[in-house]
Amino acid sequence: MKKSLQVFAGVCALITLVALNGFAQSKKIVLGFSQIGAESEWRTANTDSIKAAAAAAGIELKFADAQQKQENQIKAIRSFIAQKVDVIAFSPVVETGWETVLQEAKRAKIPVILTDRAVAVKDDSLYVTFMGSDFVEEGKRAAVWLMGYLHTDKPVNIVELQGTVGSAPAIDRKRGFEEMLKPFPNYKIIRSQTGDFTRAKGKEVMEAFLKAEGKNINVLYAHNDDMAIGAIQAIEEFGLKPGKDIIIVSVDAVKGAFEAMIAGKLNCTVECSPLLGEQLMAAVKDLVAGKSLPKRIVTNEGVYPAEFAAQVFPSRKY
Ligand code: AHR
Repeated sequence: MKKSLQVFAGVCALITLVALNGFAQSKKIVLGFSQIGAESEWRTANTDSIKAAAAAAGIELKFADAQQKQENQIKAIRSFIAQKVDVIAFSPVVETGWETVLQEAKRAKIPVILTDRAVAVKDDSLYVTFMGSDFVEEGKRAAVWLMGYLHTDKPVNIVELQGTVGSAPAIDRKRGFEEMLKPFPNYKIIRSQTGDFTRAKGKEVMEAFLKAEGKNINVLYAHNDDMAIGAIQAIEEFGLKPGKDIIIVSVDAVKGAFEAMIAGKLNCTVECSPLLGEQLMAAVKDLVAGKSLPKRIVTNEGVYPAEFAAQVFPSRKY
């Protein structure tokens, strides 16, 4: 009798163990991701990378598109908190104004990962890690390429198409570029305005630059390829040759930029990789497993002058 009771208890324990194990295996990690929008070729590639990597990693992704509005990102983060997701990740449209919602996530004990863009907060315990490019470095690389390419002490008039006002890449790419040019006063930024990272705005602002400055413009520095591509159209419509009459350097290295370089209309693109999906999913899994992450994970990137565009193009992934 005693023995059969023991066997019965053992079988029960085994069944419970198997059931618990099955439950643990079937409970998917849930990641809430708030994306900025779809303003550029870069952003679309970034979204694709995140969706594909989540599917491949078996992570349930709750994806929200903020259509370039900070208020929509805040709403999405609050909704992720209410849904008790395991991890929240987001690419902040602008740098400031995140303290309150990040404190709410912290109180709910939901870890937050920043991807692509940084936030300006006093308390950096409000997020676990920031993975993405070094935008200051990208601005510096654009300037170094330009000065190496022109190699002149004659006056060089530059117009600048900035990214979204208040966004980390717009602030940092401007800073890095200006920092490198500072010791060389013949390089002058004569006009600088936001084109909001879009082709349409890039074209519109370049039209205004051309109207005001005409043939006085030697160089265009665009904070992303999409604005450069929009501006190329404006330059052609104005009757000038982009890439020749006006030297153009931009950031991202999307396929559209390679096509423009092969066509001789863009001179250089500085890489900013949107392929952050795999890295993000690995970080999410590590967090859920209780591992700690470095505070900053920097993406490795290069510079692509037009001379190498045709050779490099077939291997480009975005
Ligand atoms: O934050 C990355 C920037 O955002 C990319 O350079 C730009 O194309 C995008 O919209």
